[in-house]
Amino acid sequence: MDNVYPLSLRRKRQSKKIRNLFDTVRLEPQQLIQPYFVYENLHEAEPLNSIAGQYRHNLESLKKTIEHGWRQDISTVLLFFIPAKKTFHYDFDAQVLQELSQTFGQDIVLATDICLCSHSLTGHCGLVDEEGRVDNNSSVQELVRRSLIHAQAGSDLLSPSDMMDSRIQAIREALDTHHFHESMIMSYSSKFSSAFYGPFREAAEPAAGFDNRKSYQIDYRNPQDAIESSLRDTREGADILMVKPGGAYLDIIYQIKHHPKLSHQLLASYQVSGEYQGLQLMAQHQMVSFKEAYLESLYALKRAGSDLIITYGANDFKKLNQEQK
Ligand code: PBG
Repeated sequence: MDNVYPLSLRRKRQSKKIRNLFDTVRLEPQQLIQPYFVYENLHEAEPLNSIAGQYRHNLESLKKTIEHGWRQDISTVLLFFIPAKKTFHYDFDAQVLQELSQTFGQDIVLATDICLCSHSLTGHCGLVDEEGRVDNNSSVQELVRRSLIHAQAGSDLLSPSDMMDSRIQAIREALDTHHFHESMIMSYSSKFSSAFYGPFREAAEPAAGFDNRKSYQIDYRNPQDAIESSLRDTREGADILMVKPGGAYLDIIYQIKHHPKLSHQLLASYQVSGEYQGLQLMAQHQMVSFKEAYLESLYALKRAGSDLIITYGANDFKKLNQEQK
């Protein structure tokens, strides 16, 4: 028998307090990760034109903003290192990491991007052979080398964003061999070849290969690949999986979170530079309220199944979210 009472869905929406009572999708600052760009030989912090509110940091300004974020309950940060010269040297990374782990100890979880693209003259995320192809195995070896340097210097969560095959297994084995049993890996397991990375270019300063990453990033017309690489990276030892970009790939987030062999994994999604800056630009043109559009976009990522969200506005979330309630 059908319900005899007339169904009212509006009853639960009648006031702010009642709406809050019925809200079942909860997002907390602890579930957000704030990315930062840290530059070698930078005299003082400079705002980035392409991502509103974000900076090129030096160590000093980075420490200050990490502390500011920590006061807003953001305790996980994702660092991108931009070297002064395009060579595969990681002394700067190590120096920054040592200093941060000394300053923050266990108060902050340090995730570090280990991709080679900001270091390489070709702008690719891997090493290029004589024929101009991105070579998988030598790239993986270089990623392993960088991972060990980061782990040694204090990175808690190594984050390979390159999309080379079998890198997770190679990194995990090397970490274990060198007794870094506690170092974790956040795999960019579902990284699509996307136009939404555009504004990131100014921040990370890759050379010209930036626009041509289709030989290693996932084609968005082939979503099954994202499931396959999530399964593979899980088998190879990834501690956290990721979908990137997030907003244009909610179906992928949902599928991974509901997959019988993947649902146990912690799943992050990355609201990338273009997705974030798009909202900023609409707000600058008075087309939307940034606060409202931003919160809506984050809750969509959460609802789809993200356990963690990487977003450029993480440090502002607590305040915005409280104002909304
Ligand atoms: C590079 C990398 C990219 C981003 C993070 N790491 C760009 C790319 O792979 O093409 C994009 C992040 C963003 O747009 O916010 N390994």
